[in-house]
Amino acid sequence: MPTILQLNTSLFGDSGQSSRLAAGFAGALAKSTGRELKVRDLAANPVSHLTAERVTAFGTPASERTLDQQRHVAESDALIDELREADVLVLGLPMYNFGVPSTLKAYFDHLARAGVTFRYTAEGPVGLLTGKKAYVFATRGGQHAGTATDLQTDYVRLFLRFIGISDVEFIYAEGLALGEQQRERALATAVETISRLAA
Ligand SMILES: Cc1cc2nc3c(=O)[nH]c(=O)nc-3n(C[C@H](O)[C@H](O)[C@H](O)COP(=O)(O)O)c2cc1C
Repeated sequence: MPTILQLNTSLFGDSGQSSRLAAGFAGALAKSTGRELKVRDLAANPVSHLTAERVTAFGTPASERTLDQQRHVAESDALIDELREADVLVLGLPMYNFGVPSTLKAYFDHLARAGVTFRYTAEGPVGLLTGKKAYVFATRGGQHAGTATDLQTDYVRLFLRFIGISDVEFIYAEGLALGEQQRERALATAVETISRLAA
């Protein structure tokens, strides 16, 4: 069955604004399209950080891996398989200290595997997780979209394209710390967009 993978990365779990928007959209899309919905909370259940041992394990041929290396690779394989099985990715993306949550960076570090999620060619790297659509619900206290301080959008687009996901739509809710009126307006606009996209 086609599956939606919803990734939450807010420190505040289900009550984070990004998680709420992502859940609203993913739930509505699952209902309107009959897709199964899988939710992974990277803040509540963070994946391990990249280490020299892990990177070495990734680069060691399967037949030569030690038991420890097999364990490291299995953790990454499970995350990749989960994403590979989904045809829609829904990402809740809060801005923390001008960047993506560190838990998302750690997750991305498990996904970038030469020969598994991308391969090098004479024309440059080619992503292998193709045929997916991603929706990113980006929530920010300030206003950044379209300006030099938005260091998240290009990074997330670049990384997803690198592993083969080039159809990526960003939905922003910004200025959430700029007063009640702005906050309500930004969230209402995002909710309207969700209704349109999930119909
Ligand atoms: C630790 C922390 C750092 C933050 N850093 C920024 C920032 O650099 N720029 C910004 O516009 N908002 C910043 N904010 C505000 C969040 O982006 C905003 O509250 C957003 O709604 C967070 O999404 P969430 O509710 O899903 O966690 C920060 C909030 C926290 C808790």
